[in-house]
Amino acid sequence: MELTTISQYRYATKAYDSNKKVPQSTLDELLSLLRFSPSSVNSQPWHFLVIGSQEAKSRLVSAVGDAYAFNQSKVRDASHTLVFCVKNSLTDADLDTLLEQEDVDGRFLKPDAKAGQAKGRGYYVNLHREAGDTAQWMEKQVYLALGQGLLGASALGLDATPIEGFDLQGVDREFALQEQGLRSLVLMTIGYRSETDFNAQLPKSRLPAESIITRL
Ligand SMILES: Cc1cc2nc3c(=O)[nH]c(=O)nc-3n(C[C@H](O)[C@H](O)[C@H](O)COP(=O)(O)O)c2cc1C
Repeated sequence: MELTTISQYRYATKAYDSNKKVPQSTLDELLSLLRFSPSSVNSQPWHFLVIGSQEAKSRLVSAVGDAYAFNQSKVRDASHTLVFCVKNSLTDADLDTLLEQEDVDGRFLKPDAKAGQAKGRGYYVNLHREAGDTAQWMEKQVYLALGQGLLGASALGLDATPIEGFDLQGVDREFALQEQGLRSLVLMTIGYRSETDFNAQLPKSRLPAESIITRL
């Protein structure tokens, strides 16, 4: 599919066909795409919970909360839901892990490259530590993965919905995220649109290009 077609095919799916399941190979491709999302200084401050089994889905539906019934039905009927989590902290030990991974992956071709990378990343990490906005900075990285995931899902012929409307603390409790040094930020349901989804028929609406793009 061409890029414009992919971006137009994608829409916030409101109702899923509960009989259709995403094939394992397609799911794996999507997860790989998330793993390869870019992040500032390659910090990768994320974790993706893949909710696929009936049991996990029931737990997530309850945790989303009845106040968000309109989103519970999406989680219930979609093939899978991905819970995008952010780490609660970015410790020096995390930075060491990143550096060692980059070393193993062959990123350091010259002798001083590893120290240079540690210094460069440390500089930005410290900027955010001093500004006290590390949590927000990490959240932004997770949302990049969400954007990549949404477009990627469409390219794979899937329908998807980004979901912020859910009980975040409820989901954190249900899946013991705090204990794993994580918290939930946003959900992404994936599957196939239902024929009855009213939103599939509606045209997209966006502000005019001239009002949001300035060409200099
Ligand atoms: C971060 C984020 C959170 C969203 N949360 C919800 C949600 O909780 N429930 C829902 O039905 N749609 C949700 N949406 C969908 C938006 O309403 C939708 O993307 C927007 O209206 C543009 O429409 P389109 O995606 O169909 O082009 C969310 C979108 C984003 C990007």
